[in-house]
Amino acid sequence: MLATAPAKLILCGEHAVVYGQPAIAVPLPDLRATATVQAGAPQTGITLAVPDLSPEPIRDPQHPLIELIHATLATIAAPTTPNLHLTVRSNIPIASGMGSGAAVATALVRAVAQWGGVEIADATVSDLVYQSEQRLHGTPSGIDNAVIAYAQPIWFVRQQPAPLIEPIQIGAPLHLVIGDTGLRSETHRPVGAVRQAWQAQPETYTALFAAVGDIVRQTRTLLALPQPDLTSLGALLTANQHLLAQIGVSAPALEHLIGVALAAGAYGAKLSGAGWGGIMLALAADSTHAAQIAAALRAAGAVQATPTVVQAHG
Ligand code: MEV
Repeated sequence: MLATAPAKLILCGEHAVVYGQPAIAVPLPDLRATATVQAGAPQTGITLAVPDLSPEPIRDPQHPLIELIHATLATIAAPTTPNLHLTVRSNIPIASGMGSGAAVATALVRAVAQWGGVEIADATVSDLVYQSEQRLHGTPSGIDNAVIAYAQPIWFVRQQPAPLIEPIQIGAPLHLVIGDTGLRSETHRPVGAVRQAWQAQPETYTALFAAVGDIVRQTRTLLALPQPDLTSLGALLTANQHLLAQIGVSAPALEHLIGVALAAGAYGAKLSGAGWGGIMLALAADSTHAAQIAAALRAAGAVQATPTVVQAHG
């Protein structure tokens, strides 16, 4: 039994999405987490091997991933706790803004459902992973688990009782470059700092989040065009970056790579994900242009710079 899940990239709207503004995210199909399930030895219960992180398998029933496996077994109505040995691997950089944790969790949920012979809806997978992420990160919006579970470009709004998740139209392939600062940043730290800042200055932050929301709405309209207006789209991405810097989640290493990408002719550039490190993205005209921007980012110290194409969709 083998199941996989992609990494994710937030195009625009991160952080403001925690406060009810819309955001747009896309899957990155070339970076994936993979989970396999085998029958475990008798009386061993659930064990989870994560060979990239530790030589010893996880057995602690209170570990969030073991809890997630139990929650999935309950959801698919497995009659008794089976003896299962799961293994998870991932080529998604950790704590870099690409959703490695949510992808690992999604691959595990899908592998367990496959083992049980149960078709599991994307929304159910997303909910299970969200509950698990909540235990780890406190107040995630839910966008990471949603885009990874649906594995398609989405428009996401956090709202009650359930988030709004809509597949969005991408009118023409979008050429992006992802540059990695190499600085690892745990999502919950910048998210917590933004919460404190918002509590201290609610009016300022609410206005910043609303300005991000306006950008995201305009971006959705531009993304749907069959002949993309790259200049306007790029300007929106860069404007989103300026707001993220005011929100307090940029970092010198991100600003440096964003400046390099713009100097190399990118139409726009911004951090992506939680910030304070991790990755930035830049908008290019085509694959040749993307390769040039990637080379400039590498020369300027990016630990990785990867061109990627978001295919037309919808
Ligand atoms: C992290 O990928 C995106 C943030 O907006 C946090 C969240 O939405 O939970 C920074």
